[in-house]
Amino acid sequence: MLLSRSIPVLKVGKYQPRYPLVQGGMGVAISGPNLAGHVARYGGVGTIASVGLACTEPYYNGHNYFEANQRAVKEGLIRAREITGESGVLAVNCMVALTDYELHVRAACEGGVNIIISGAGLPIKLPDYTKDFPDVALVPIVSSTKAASLLARRWERLYHRLPDGFVVETPLYAGGHLGVTKMEQVENPEFSLDVVIPELVEYLEKELKAPIPIIAAGGIWTREDVEHAFDLGASGVQMGTRFACTFEGDASDRFKQAYIDATEDDVVIIQSPAGLPGRAIRSPFIEKYLNGEVGRKPCIANCLTHCRYRTEKKTFCIAQALMDAYFGNWEEGLFFCGSNVTKITKMEHVADIIEELFGSNEGNE
Ligand SMILES: Cc1cc2nc3c(=O)[nH]c(=O)nc-3n(C[C@H](O)[C@H](O)[C@H](O)COP(=O)(O)O)c2cc1C
Repeated sequence: MLLSRSIPVLKVGKYQPRYPLVQGGMGVAISGPNLAGHVARYGGVGTIASVGLACTEPYYNGHNYFEANQRAVKEGLIRAREITGESGVLAVNCMVALTDYELHVRAACEGGVNIIISGAGLPIKLPDYTKDFPDVALVPIVSSTKAASLLARRWERLYHRLPDGFVVETPLYAGGHLGVTKMEQVENPEFSLDVVIPELVEYLEKELKAPIPIIAAGGIWTREDVEHAFDLGASGVQMGTRFACTFEGDASDRFKQAYIDATEDDVVIIQSPAGLPGRAIRSPFIEKYLNGEVGRKPCIANCLTHCRYRTEKKTFCIAQALMDAYFGNWEEGLFFCGSNVTKITKMEHVADIIEELFGSNEGNE
């Protein structure tokens, strides 16, 4: 497909992917090295989600969660780099809410990552954790201009630097944890891309006076969605759900089948153990949870700084439930998804999606 209009150049720190496209980090292990490597190879930013990444590795023995995850991040970057070659742009998504957040960030830097993308909390200390790696670009995920300005001001004051980009993620359509703290905020149009992006563009131009690129996330599917995001003032788009159900996606085929089968009635918002709303498929496990009947899954590690399962014995072990989903355990898994999951009818190839959105695609070779 040929481009119907010019598309913006997305430059994040020193890195410029061929297309202004970022594949969203999806844990646990849904966006691992294979998906990230292929997206980067075909011209987007490929993102490995660091959370729980070692669950797929033979050296994870159920007791070494923290060390194994750091090793998985480093080795995952090597594997993704083998797929994409030197010119591809690779990111690691590190969740602020993790108890070992700093170690994930350090492992990614030591593993040679180009960009750290960080949400599920405000990554206030991120510049400190990456100070020995000045080439690594830093991109916080926000859902409001208020959060973006608070972070930018704080980084300027404490570290004399600004973010290299902002992902603006709307809770209206995105998958996983939704970047807002209250259930009633999920459907609030104030958090739509149509409201937040123009407001943030104005703030960056007029008040911060810094040309920081904005990457729109949540509900992006078609070329029209991409162009609409650019019209709002974004210089890039981030897509998660559509990439999760690709042949190159790291999840099991059963995970992908759950995406193919999901209908509108199957998509629900849950209050996650992290105390944040999240969008997910109504699997048997989630059905029981919504009815207050969840059987307890043992906590595998103190992975979250704030976990209602650990402190109040309410909810469930989210790391275990997400691993179960990754392995395709339909009965026991937590299958995070964006609202676009209902559009998925089959598995796709990464190259075909990027070709459909941005034009002809030869890969990096
Ligand atoms: C299965 C799944 C897991 C996700 N896990 C994470 C994560 O670990 N960290 C994160 O920042 N965002 C996570 N997200 C959000 C995505 O990175 C992305 O921003 C969002 O889903 C974009 O909306 P879309 O799915 O409509 O394209 C996840 C989304 C999905 C569908």
